[in-house]
Amino acid sequence: MSAVEPLKHVTRASAGGARPAVLLVDDVDANLVALEALLADFDCDLVLARSGNEALRQLLKREFAVMLLDVQMPIMDGYEVARHAHDNPATANVPIVFVTATHDTEDNVLRGYGTGAVDFLFKPLNSAILRSKVRVFLDLYAKRLEIADAKRELEQTHAELAHAYEDLRTTHTRLVQSAKMASLGELVAGIAHEINNPLAFAINHVDTAQRALAHVETLVNPAENADARPHWVRAMDRLKEMGLGLDRIRNLVVKLRTFSRLDGDELGWASVRDCVESALTILGHRFGDQIKVERRLGEPDMLRCYPNLLNQALMNLVANAIDAVEPAGNIVIETEATPGAYLISVSDDGAGIPSELRERVYEPFFTTKAVGKGTGLGLSITYSIVQKHGGTLEIREREGGGTTMTMRIPLAGAGS
Ligand SMILES: Nc1ncnc2c1ncn2[C@@H]1O[C@H](COP(=O)(O)OP(=O)(O)OP(=O)(O)O)[C@@H](O)[C@H]1O
Ligand SMILES: [Mg+2]
Repeated sequence: MSAVEPLKHVTRASAGGARPAVLLVDDVDANLVALEALLADFDCDLVLARSGNEALRQLLKREFAVMLLDVQMPIMDGYEVARHAHDNPATANVPIVFVTATHDTEDNVLRGYGTGAVDFLFKPLNSAILRSKVRVFLDLYAKRLEIADAKRELEQTHAELAHAYEDLRTTHTRLVQSAKMASLGELVAGIAHEINNPLAFAINHVDTAQRALAHVETLVNPAENADARPHWVRAMDRLKEMGLGLDRIRNLVVKLRTFSRLDGDELGWASVRDCVESALTILGHRFGDQIKVERRLGEPDMLRCYPNLLNQALMNLVANAIDAVEPAGNIVIETEATPGAYLISVSDDGAGIPSELRERVYEPFFTTKAVGKGTGLGLSITYSIVQKHGGTLEIREREGGGTTMTMRIPLAGAGS
């Protein structure tokens, strides 16, 4: 063997600073000692194995940059070791350099390549060739680790990007939704304001006309005046109907104002139980004995919120649930406090909301109900109320059919 030349560069494994390792396999101690001495100044661990079995055991314990494998060994020769290593997916990729006699036949060399050898070293060993080959494998190993690191980083970046994209999409949808609501809110407030004044005097005038007709009654006594009677009855009937119609308009204007301004309420502590009971009492006349309501009210009961608005939001959800199950069905009102939020859910076993309508149901005036039955404002009002609390309104398909609407109110306190 030639003398050991000085080390020109040091090879390091990049991943986590772990030192690379070289496995030296030879059944002759003297050969192992010689190999170890030749590679002693390399920045790597040298692991020695005195038999094929020992080599295979070591291969399973850690990764190696290269295995220098003596071919002529008793019990299991180098080729067999290589074959076993090659057959096991955990060790199949370790580069193998066979160390063999110069007089080894070409057939044997070919057999070696067939078992996964990447190179051969011939005895007697030339130290310069040995060192430069081992150095190449150490460099390759370091590069492999660098690539693995880069791949991991890329994968992580990719996952972070995918996550950020998802966040962005959700935020975008929310922003579009609230922008839509905000501009509609202004429009609706304007319309409500415009309607309010003429409405007020129309209501007053109907009232005045009714009182005037009542006065006429005392003067003309239409009951006894056959000519006047049908006109008088018709006028009274029409005025009554006008009153009913105007009442409906007034209710609508109240809803519109609530939707657009959400005013008239102050932040405070309220009992959610009371809120549920008041919604159920107000809607009591609509239950009959075929619609069952179950309450699953968790603790705590007190919630910091805008109590009147929360009542109203809950009433809208319960009213929709009633509409969905009529004439018979089941409604469950459930409350639950999670670490960050208070959840109030209303579930029904009605027909459910078709998925293509789910985005649209929050829109003001979107309704699938008959004219005069639904104004399409319930959910948009509820949505705005929940938003005022800094929370969210979620629609889920109920297991077994129907709908679950959940108001998620942050416990940290209501928003604007
Ligand atoms: N629980 C539910 N089950 C099935 N569909 C629902 C449910 N809740 C809401 N919807 C659908 O969403 C639409 C909009 O609901 P929203 O409460 O905003 O208006 P509405 O109930 O039609 O009218 P309003 O509440 O103003 O009287 C409804 O018309 C209905 O199609
Ligand atoms: Mg409704």
